[in-house]
Amino acid sequence: MITLTGIEKTFSNGVKALDGASLELQKGEIHAVLGENGAGKSTLMHTLVGFLKADAGTITVDGKERRFSGYIDAIHAGIGIVKQHPLIVDGFPSWVVCALGAEDGFLFTPKKLRARVESICEEWGFHLPLDRDSSSLTASQRQIVAVVCLLLRGCSVFIFDEVTAVLSLYETERLFALLGRLKQNGASIALISHKLDETLSVADRVTVLRRGKTIASFGAKESNRETLNALMFGKGLEVEGREARGGEGGKILCVQNLAVTGNAELPFLWDVTMSVVRGSIVGVAGVRDSGTETLELVLTGFLKQDSGTIRLNGIEMDGYPRTFRDAGGAYLAADRIGVCLAPNLSLWDNLVIHAHRKNCFFLDKSFLNDWVDSLLEKTKVQWGKEEKGRSFKETARFFSGGQLQRLVLERELAENAGLLVLSEPFWGLDTQACAHLVQKLNSVTRRGGAVLIFSADIDNLVPLCDEIFVLRNGRIVEIIRGTAGNRKQRLVKAMV
Ligand SMILES: Nc1ncnc2c1ncn2[C@@H]1O[C@H](COP(=O)(O)OP(=O)(O)OP(=O)(O)O)[C@@H](O)[C@H]1O
Ligand SMILES: [Mg+2]
Repeated sequence: MITLTGIEKTFSNGVKALDGASLELQKGEIHAVLGENGAGKSTLMHTLVGFLKADAGTITVDGKERRFSGYIDAIHAGIGIVKQHPLIVDGFPSWVVCALGAEDGFLFTPKKLRARVESICEEWGFHLPLDRDSSSLTASQRQIVAVVCLLLRGCSVFIFDEVTAVLSLYETERLFALLGRLKQNGASIALISHKLDETLSVADRVTVLRRGKTIASFGAKESNRETLNALMFGKGLEVEGREARGGEGGKILCVQNLAVTGNAELPFLWDVTMSVVRGSIVGVAGVRDSGTETLELVLTGFLKQDSGTIRLNGIEMDGYPRTFRDAGGAYLAADRIGVCLAPNLSLWDNLVIHAHRKNCFFLDKSFLNDWVDSLLEKTKVQWGKEEKGRSFKETARFFSGGQLQRLVLERELAENAGLLVLSEPFWGLDTQACAHLVQKLNSVTRRGGAVLIFSADIDNLVPLCDEIFVLRNGRIVEIIRGTAGNRKQRLVKAMV
């Protein structure tokens, strides 16, 4: 059993991320760790695995007090973490990446090591392309590589930090089946997630963090959505659904006979014809490799089509993001750190990245400072225990996943774009932030803008969209309109 008691952590910027947090992780249990964005979940786990040093508090493993000097130390004690996007070495065959660092002294041979990786994959039923270059692995395969790494090192405590956010329904089911098997083997599992229903369906116990403190811990069966939301947010959650749609607006986006066939690294698109009208929220769904990623890239100007036309606000797109933005488009990419943000620049730099073009020639600092202030005000991100505004001069990567997501989303909303393209907008958002997102999208459509959402999160997508285009093998195979029938079932059927 692992216990964390009275853990405190204040970062150098003065944020007290943990204020006496505790957690008790038993053998053979799946333990959900819940809390709003910025509550301190990741920080608590990072102190357990030695990424961070706690300022105070104790960690015990099977009754003995431990203090890990680093991650390797934690791994030796059998404790490992799997992150949403595991940092694995690119440019090597996947089996090598699984085995790196697990070579046991002079008895090691590559052949023996590969055989061990293979036998773990066989034993656990993982279908990993072991000889394929690790850089081409999907998000879920990278997570499995991370799990294999931990199994190979004999770990028995597994921390999963928001891994399901980037997984499809099917991948999540498979992951949960794996968690069940790990648990049967006596492993302890800490599962951080913002998806309450699915988490409660697998968890044995739940611990809720709020502003760095552990405020409740109980059996998963004794809890429900409402009590958990009240604990996490400290108040009843107001959830607004998609507003009834107004009259039909004109078309803002017209896509005709679009084809992308010449890019070997991306799934093809064939003869895609679709349009988006002002005032509507439209979804695009499809399983991996169905072509949704390719469509997203061409529509936002990151890729040029081989044939067909795209018109945004009547302007023809030419494969440049600048043309897309100038025509009235805004875009939130799924890769927040890689594409939406420059993580090593300050928050200020990241937030003014488009706005500085608005006031033309001279860099008007006071205009930009006001701009940043208004964004920070709108996101209502809670910065720390004191809820004081944190400085926008801080480096972007010092903010939590959900905080960053809310900030870039607000930046794109502030463009007042005619067409707002969002990729996986729900990733990393807590329930309250998801509800705020719906309100914000409603107001975009109220002012005549349109929203196009690419997402595999069907539960969030279906109630929000007026229309959903389903892609399969690069073609639109179904358009789900209206509210009649079981839309979710129809969608899943059309996708596979
Ligand atoms: N390296 C850092 N330097 C400064 N502040 C940090 C750092 N890492 C996290 N914080 C701050 O500590 C607080 C807790 O962050 P943490 O990442 O633990 O939240 P979380 O519960 O995991 O949230 P989310 O659901 O958004 O991932 C946040 O206010 C965050 O901005
Ligand atoms: Mg986190």
